[in-house]
Amino acid sequence: MKTAITEMFGIRHPIIQGGMHFVGFAELASAVSNAGGLGIITGLTQRTPELLAREIARCRDMTDRPFGVNLSFLPSVNPRPYPEYIAAIVEGGVRIVETAGRNPEQYLPPLKKAGIKIIHKCTSVRHSVKAERIGCDAVSVDGFECGGHPGEDDVPNFILLPRAADELKIPFVASGGMADGRSLVAALALGAAGMNMGTRFIATKEAPVHENVKQAIVAASELDTRLIMRALRNTERVLKNKAVEEIVETERSKGSALTFADIHEQVAGVYPRILMQGDMDAGAWSCGMVAGLIQDIPTVKELIDRIIADAEQLIRNRLIGLLGRDQMPASEAA
Ligand SMILES: Cc1cc2nc3c(=O)[nH]c(=O)nc-3n(C[C@H](O)[C@H](O)[C@H](O)COP(=O)(O)O)c2cc1C
Repeated sequence: MKTAITEMFGIRHPIIQGGMHFVGFAELASAVSNAGGLGIITGLTQRTPELLAREIARCRDMTDRPFGVNLSFLPSVNPRPYPEYIAAIVEGGVRIVETAGRNPEQYLPPLKKAGIKIIHKCTSVRHSVKAERIGCDAVSVDGFECGGHPGEDDVPNFILLPRAADELKIPFVASGGMADGRSLVAALALGAAGMNMGTRFIATKEAPVHENVKQAIVAASELDTRLIMRALRNTERVLKNKAVEEIVETERSKGSALTFADIHEQVAGVYPRILMQGDMDAGAWSCGMVAGLIQDIPTVKELIDRIIADAEQLIRNRLIGLLGRDQMPASEAA
């Protein structure tokens, strides 16, 4: 399947693995790239630029295919030395960067100068148009369904993607709620040139997270996510658990007076305990509604091959079949 995204990034299939805190290590990124998609290392999971340089080198040892690095500019408890992270990316020879969280404009010049392609992840049409205007090469349009930070507009992908298609000249991928061949065909139909998946890639054999995390995704339904931190305008979609119920209760009682300190304990620095140690009630962690579509833990290659095979089947048998009937002479169609 050739699209503007496969051409731009030099990949075989129009499938991207979005950056994920404490999931996007070299093991997962290289597995996705080796399977023909675009794997992405999560830059800020590496505590220092030196550690990121090492992770990039490790990934390069595991794949000779293109892979990217995610840089998120969301507000953080520990502000990061972004120019040094960018230097590690440039010096590491990475050709693709996924930016997210905030307008990346001030960080673009050194990346562009190095010839790096930028795909900016955003949750609205206006931010997508802005990304195009400031020189991003592509956009990852993240609908309200998505795991992680869906923004504050709450527009789901059935509206967001065709709206983006109407306004953008640069290619974009559909992100949020994507799981299988049906998602890919729908994304293409709505104007995207591929899809980005987060939650689906966590439930794979190669994802370097605790088995409890994968089982929690398989066990969850589409009703099991919650939105937290709305009052802080930093909304996050997370899987419901004991800690999240406490957060929701705190948020209900504090209302608009909520401060980060009120929920600090259940939110800050909890990812290693959950994702590495499998302590599933230790705090809030991002998860998409798409958990309701995830029933197994395949290898990354099995997942990607299945998506492409199912998408091809769907196009050839179901969609072209529908058209064929229409085009048949009325006598034969009957
Ligand atoms: C556990 C988890 C951690 C994430 N961490 C990040 C991150 O550090 N940076 C980022 O830009 N996006 C992050 N995301 C968002 C994903 O890259 C992707 O946009 C999102 O998961 C897509 O929605 P989906 O989960 O429905 O596929 C994270 C998502 C999950 C599920």
